[in-house]
Amino acid sequence: MPATVVVGTQWGDEGKGKLTDLLAKDVRLVVRYQGGHNAGHTVVVDGESFTLQLVPSGVLYPSTVPVIGNGVVVDPAVLVAECDALEARGVDTSRLVVSGNAHLIMPYHYELDRATERSLGRNKLGTTKRGIGPAYADKAARVGLRVQDLLDARIFRQKLEIALREKNAVLARVHNRLALDEEEIAHRYLDELAPRVGPMVGDAVALVHDALDAGEHVMLEGAQATFLDLDHGTYPFVTSSNPTAGGACVGAGIGPRDVDRVVGIAKSYVTRVGAGPFPTELHGELADLLVERGHEYGTNTGRRRRPGWLDLVMLRHAVRLNSVSEIALTKLDVLTGLPSVKVCVAYDDSGERLERFPYHQSVLHRVVPVYEEMPGWEEDISGVTRAEELPAAARDYVGRIAAAAGVPVSLVGVGPGREQFVRFAA
Ligand code: IMP
Repeated sequence: MPATVVVGTQWGDEGKGKLTDLLAKDVRLVVRYQGGHNAGHTVVVDGESFTLQLVPSGVLYPSTVPVIGNGVVVDPAVLVAECDALEARGVDTSRLVVSGNAHLIMPYHYELDRATERSLGRNKLGTTKRGIGPAYADKAARVGLRVQDLLDARIFRQKLEIALREKNAVLARVHNRLALDEEEIAHRYLDELAPRVGPMVGDAVALVHDALDAGEHVMLEGAQATFLDLDHGTYPFVTSSNPTAGGACVGAGIGPRDVDRVVGIAKSYVTRVGAGPFPTELHGELADLLVERGHEYGTNTGRRRRPGWLDLVMLRHAVRLNSVSEIALTKLDVLTGLPSVKVCVAYDDSGERLERFPYHQSVLHRVVPVYEEMPGWEEDISGVTRAEELPAAARDYVGRIAAAAGVPVSLVGVGPGREQFVRFAA
């Protein structure tokens, strides 16, 4: 059976974790394909809230094997702490498999992330300061340490010594920071963390292919989202990996012909954390209302998210970039009670109407959104289970989105609970 990719179509925090969890019920493997603990997925099960950073959402179903793919960057201390926290709440994490080819986040990656942000000053990116960018940079520069290196102390120490020589020089001479101690790092990673992580390490690619060959359902779960993609996002205000569906193939070790379904997650409005252009951004009372009602604060960092109206120019672009086959719309309930709702249907660039997402960043910075205004709805929709029960205005809103995107909206989220989704027929 071919694989399904779940990908965010905006700047993250669309509700991918909750949706992956919902879809994971009938899935054998859920594979995280990129990012690290810069992600924070919240899943509410029977009124209990679980926050996941590294462990794939499927962990909450006993029949699902959660896999951390080669495309992920792993801080082993975070991984161990997350597993311990889940176990303490009765969630069995013993099925978790971590690719030996995933890269390790090292203490100097945190230092460099913080130092680079500091030195950028006003131009800082607003990263999560979790060492993500520096870890991926080392991977590309071929000086990274991988999860499999935890299993071989000699190789780990050799690589650490080489890496630390350069990192300490940069930290001291460029950023005026203290050098990190090699012995301390080696002790923490090899003596404390390796014995815990070792049993989780495996051949993730073989697992994925065995499952596909056996006709089992594999789900590929992304972190962050399309417009935070290193290649296709609003560079440099992006993360350092490829959340788009192409990244799912690389980060899990499959080819595009193994994917037959790409679920694009779109929030009913848009949010962004950190710096960067945002044409439909809102300020003032309406912004505060969306933030408070939608609980738009970072799951991990607690940062307030910047809210805005739904941008259909972006959504259309995301559909193309990811070959999205259907959209899952989340948090429709947050818009309840607004007298009217707006969607951005095009951009105005000094009198010129742009229907497509501009490749040039300066254009994106200066465009003005062209809105279509639609009637709102008053009725509480949080208990709705069938599409026909939604108020006509809410159904029209969903229909407008599907028409603009050119693909069906198959699921609509109406509340934080695992089952608070309304299914729409294609
Ligand atoms: P980094 O991934 O920590 O390097 O941060 C780069 C950019 O991606 C910053 O603007 C972050 O706010 C953003 N970012 C990273 N992870 C997430 C996420 O899970 N949700 C939303 N934004 C994120």
